[in-house]
This record gives sequence, structure tokens and C-alpha cells, in this order.
Amino acid sequence: MDKVQLEERVKELNKLLHETGYAYYVKDQPLVPDAVYDQYLNELIAIESEFPNLIYPDSPTQRVGGMILQGFYKVPHTYPMLSLANAFGRDDLDDFDRRIRAAIGDDFSYVCELKIDGLAISLSYENGVFVRGATRGDGRVGEDITENLKTIRSIPLRLKEPITLEVRGEAYMPKKSFIALNEFRVENEEEKFANPRNAAAGSLRQLDPKIAASRNLAIFVYAIGGDGEAYQLDSHAQALDYLDQLGFNTNPERQTCHSIDEVQQYIEKWTDKRLDLPYEIDGIVVKVNRYVHQQDLGFTAKSPRWATAYKFPAEEVVTTLLNIELTVGRTGTLTPTAILEPVQVAGSIVGRASLHNEDLIREKDIRIGDTVIIRKAGDIIPEVVAVVLAERKEDLPAFKMPTHCPACDSELVRIEDEVALRCVNPQCPAQITEGLIHFVSRNAMNVDGLGEKVIEQLFREGLIHDVADLFTLTKDQLLELERMGDKSASNLIAAIEVSKQNSMERLLFGLGIRHVGEKGAKILSEEFGDMKSLAQATVDQLTVIHEIGDKMADSVVRYFDNEEVQKLIQRLDTLGVNLSYTGKRVDLTNLDHVLTGKTIVLTGKLEKLTRQEAKEKIEQVGGTVSGSVSKKTDVVVAGEDAGSKLDKARTLGIPVWDENRLIEELN
Ligand code: IVH
Repeated sequence: MDKVQLEERVKELNKLLHETGYAYYVKDQPLVPDAVYDQYLNELIAIESEFPNLIYPDSPTQRVGGMILQGFYKVPHTYPMLSLANAFGRDDLDDFDRRIRAAIGDDFSYVCELKIDGLAISLSYENGVFVRGATRGDGRVGEDITENLKTIRSIPLRLKEPITLEVRGEAYMPKKSFIALNEFRVENEEEKFANPRNAAAGSLRQLDPKIAASRNLAIFVYAIGGDGEAYQLDSHAQALDYLDQLGFNTNPERQTCHSIDEVQQYIEKWTDKRLDLPYEIDGIVVKVNRYVHQQDLGFTAKSPRWATAYKFPAEEVVTTLLNIELTVGRTGTLTPTAILEPVQVAGSIVGRASLHNEDLIREKDIRIGDTVIIRKAGDIIPEVVAVVLAERKEDLPAFKMPTHCPACDSELVRIEDEVALRCVNPQCPAQITEGLIHFVSRNAMNVDGLGEKVIEQLFREGLIHDVADLFTLTKDQLLELERMGDKSASNLIAAIEVSKQNSMERLLFGLGIRHVGEKGAKILSEEFGDMKSLAQATVDQLTVIHEIGDKMADSVVRYFDNEEVQKLIQRLDTLGVNLSYTGKRVDLTNLDHVLTGKTIVLTGKLEKLTRQEAKEKIEQVGGTVSGSVSKKTDVVVAGEDAGSKLDKARTLGIPVWDENRLIEELN
């Protein structure tokens, strides 16, 4: 190609990429297969890198992320992002303080901080350079939102020291920006954001970083991810000062307190002053200061024992109860929901609240038409606190539960010692759809992209009647549904296909057998190994299992003793759904592995396995993973940038493995 031809080709590629990119990313209506798009792009990149004078300022290769993001990549967190246990008043605080004293004695201090109402973010730096930012996600795996985070000015792109570390913080939208944004949205006839937290989260989940850039977000960094001791720090207060020095934005209102009374004073001060802050806070975080103490206290499955989040008392407001709606759950239970005149409570508009069951309605004597006081329990879930009787109109009738199912009209029954009324018709459409929704939900078969609305449509259209039907769906069938694009249909089919490989416990949990929760499903799957053996089990065989009670055993046997169920299992099998437990069986007495019964400490960054995967694999062979190195540690597995734990292992003469050795031994 001569110079003129080359220039022509570049112009042409620019045009092609703009057109195909727009169709694909903006309109979600691809003009060409992805491979063709990639081919154009690669050709352009190749020419541009050789002839930089041909890079047009608006070349698709020069965009800030924007058009090229089609979604967010998932990123496993090196250290899980946990949440905090809550404290709702002085009693909870005293309990927290007592538990700590019982574990570590009286000689310690707390650090109190404002609990910023935004979203948790993890930021990774390599040699001082910001390389990745992620959302919390499920705590183990988040979403890579680096490009959007780069638009937040208070996130340093380069630190003052060339160090490698991960930090945690809260991204938020200042009150002023929130108000301005909502005003702008009203003017443009767009929907308002309910509160600054949603606005911040919504901004960071935009595929076009320019939107995030226009939203004036900010961040406060509140911790080092993982082991602070690796950075020669002794306490949380020191860590915050160090983060300050590195160039991060930490919240200046933190305070070290030496007693729970002092903590209480800090809380009282901010309960009054919080309205004056330029950002929203929803409570106070109280943390035990020194790392040695934190390590002694350790973690529960969900949260550290060394910290708690004090939540400000819920705001209560008055509104009118317009109706009581009854919904039928997957087990047939009827749940009443209060339909309210929408009101603003604690940062969002509330129009519904669960009333739980008939007893609650009777106890509080709640009647349609009443003036009621509502609040958000734990600041999240709306609830009806009480009726304002003084305002009751004279002849309001008491509320009566129906006698027949609102979904299928069959007669409702009250099962002995249960409060709830129940529809026992196995063909009830409401129960079936709820069951299907449960089946595909995250903790069950986890079918990405299959939401309630789609399930309801599929059922209404007669495309699915039971869970096995899901695996017979075709792309063409999906395309018939409202608002289902080509791409979503393909993705959905792929997600259903992948879900077939789930280990048995997910399927078992998904079937929704009464009394079989996630944990029960896991235990049963481990014990029986596959669905067909479980289906044969007797009550006696089940109840000998530790942690399986009579109720669950009985329910399992009854469930499988049904021809329809047996046919269903057979169909799932024929359709290629995995019926076996694929996580290895852990039975310490039968295991004979070098790591069986051993205590292993993982430190530094692992390349091939996530921490969680490594932990699971070690546990499968009967090993235990511990957080700190001591004389009792048998092996330390050190990844990249291992810090003080590695040093300690060496001092104590504990064997140190690298990740490859671990993988080798596990295999
Ligand atoms: S410390 C192990 N400090 O509150 C979790 N959290 O559940 C350590 N938050 O998801 C969290 N301000 O996003 C901590 N000063 C602060 C915070 C804070 C807000 C959020 C955080 C976390 C949630 C607690």
C-alpha cells in the first residue's frame, strides 16, 4: 500500500469501527460478528502504531474506555471484602465491648470513624501505580470498574511511594452533587435517584466513564486490604496516617477512644452533627485499634469480631395504608404486604412494606385505610411500626384473610402450629413461578440473567412448567419474549447450559424441598454423592447424619417418594444436568494426604488460585487454613510480595511452599 492508500484505509477503518461499534455497544444490535469488529480494530491498531501521524484524535483506539467496555470483568478479591455486624443502641455496644474484653482483656483502644454511606471499593496499586479498582460484589469476587474510578479525583493514580498494596474505601456522592444531579435529571425528564448511595453506585456502574466523570464522586479510604503488618504497621490508627502520607483521602473525623463511654460520646456528637456534613453517613464504625488485638479476635464467617457498625436510629414517618396485597410464595405460604401512600423515609421512597403474617396484622390491628407509622428496620427494610388509632375513621372494618388462594382460587389451609395460611395446590401458578425463580437464583443454580420477569413470561407463555423445562429452551423461543434481544437470548442460553455443571448441592437446594436450606443441601450432597442415592435414602439413613434432624429427613423422604419427582430427576439427567456432588468428599478418616490435619497459612498474592479456591481445596483434603503464623503452623504458602508472615515462618523454621508446590501437592 502506498501512502495515499494507507490513509484511505485508515479513514475507512475509522468509519467502519464507529458504525459497527455504535451498533454493537450502544444499540445492542450488532452489524457484524465480534471477530470482524476485532479484525478491523487490530488492523487499525497495527497501522497506528507504525504511523502515529495517522492517529486521528477521535480514533476508536483513543477512547477513554467508553465504547470499548461491553461489561465489567469479574475480579476475585485477594482478600475477601467482608461487611460489619451492626449495633443498634447502647445495649448492643455494651455487648460488643464485653465480648472484646472477654477475649483480649482491658488494655486496648478503639478507633471511631464515620460510616460513609456510599459503596465499598477496593483499589490496587502496583509499585505505586493505580492498576485496578473493583466493587465489593459478593465479597469474594467484584467487578472491575477501574476506568470509572480513574475519573474520581480523590483517588491517586500514583502514590508517593512506589509500593504495592490494596486499599479499601467508600466511594460516595457529596450531598451537593446529589442535589444538583437530581435537579438536572428532573429537567431532562429522567428518573431521580433515591439517595446519594444509589446515585454513586449507578454512576460507577456506567459503561461510559465519561458519565462517572461528570458525577463528582469522591472517596474516603478506610483500610489496607489484607495484612497491615506487612507494611510495618502496628495499628489501624497508624494505617490511616500512613494512607494519608501515601496520598489517599482519609476521613479526618476519626478519633481514638479508650472506653465504650468515650465511643458513646463520639456517637452522640455525630448523631447531632451529621446533618451538617457535606456527605451522608449512616452510622459510626467502631474498630479495635491494634492489629495484634484484631488478630486475637479474628473473624466470623461474615465479619470481623473486632469491629461493629453503630447504626443511627431509624427515622419514622406517617402515611396511609392503601391496601393489603397477598402474595403466594413457593411453598404456598401467603404473605401480606402493605401498599402505602409513597413517602420518603431514610433516604428513599417507600410504597410497600411486608406485614409478615396474619398474626402481625391482628396484633397491631392494622386496617386498610389506617394512618400508619413506618420506618426502615436496620435502615433497609420498610416496616409498619404501629397504627395511629386517634386518626382511624369510625367504621373501618378489621382486616380478614381470604379463604381462597388469590392465584389459583383453591381453598387455603392452616397447617398445625404454623401461623401462615397456605395454598396446598401443587399446580398453583404462583407457587410454580416462585419455585422457578428460586431454582435459578444466585445461591441455587445461579443462572445469570434469568430474572423474575423473564421467568414469569416463560411460564405465562407456556414455555416452562417445571425446572427441567428450563433446559429445553431454545434461543428462538426466548426471542419471542418481550424485550429480549438477540444477544441477551444467546447469553441466557449459554448461562442455562453452564448451570448444568453445578455440583449437586445447588440443584438440591434449587429444588426447594421444605426444610432443606443451603447448608442442609450441602451436607446431604456430600453424604450421598448423587441425587439418585439420596432419592433412595430412608429416614433412618438420613437422621444418623450429624446435623440432619427429623424434620429435614422426613421432608426429603416424602419429597422423593413421588412419581412426579422421580420423573423430574430422570428428565434432568437425560437433559444433561449434573446430578452428582463434584466437590471432593471430605471424610477425615478416609483421607490420606500430606495436608490432612495440617494447618496452612496463605500469604502474599497467589497467581493461579484465588484465596478462596486455595482454601476450599485445602479443606477438601482435610487441611485447615489459618490467618496467622504461629508454632502450630505446619506449612506457609507464600505468593508474590509475601510480607511479615513469610519472615515469621522463616524465623520459626516452618516449611515454606510456593503456589506451584501447593497445586502439585493438592493434585
Ligand atoms: S470498615 C470488614 N470503615 O460499611 C469490613 N467500613 O459493613 C471493614 N463503610 O461495606 C469495613 N464507612 O463499605 C469501614 N469508615 C468505615 C466505613 C465503612 C463506610 C462501609 C463499608 C462496609 C460497610 C460495613
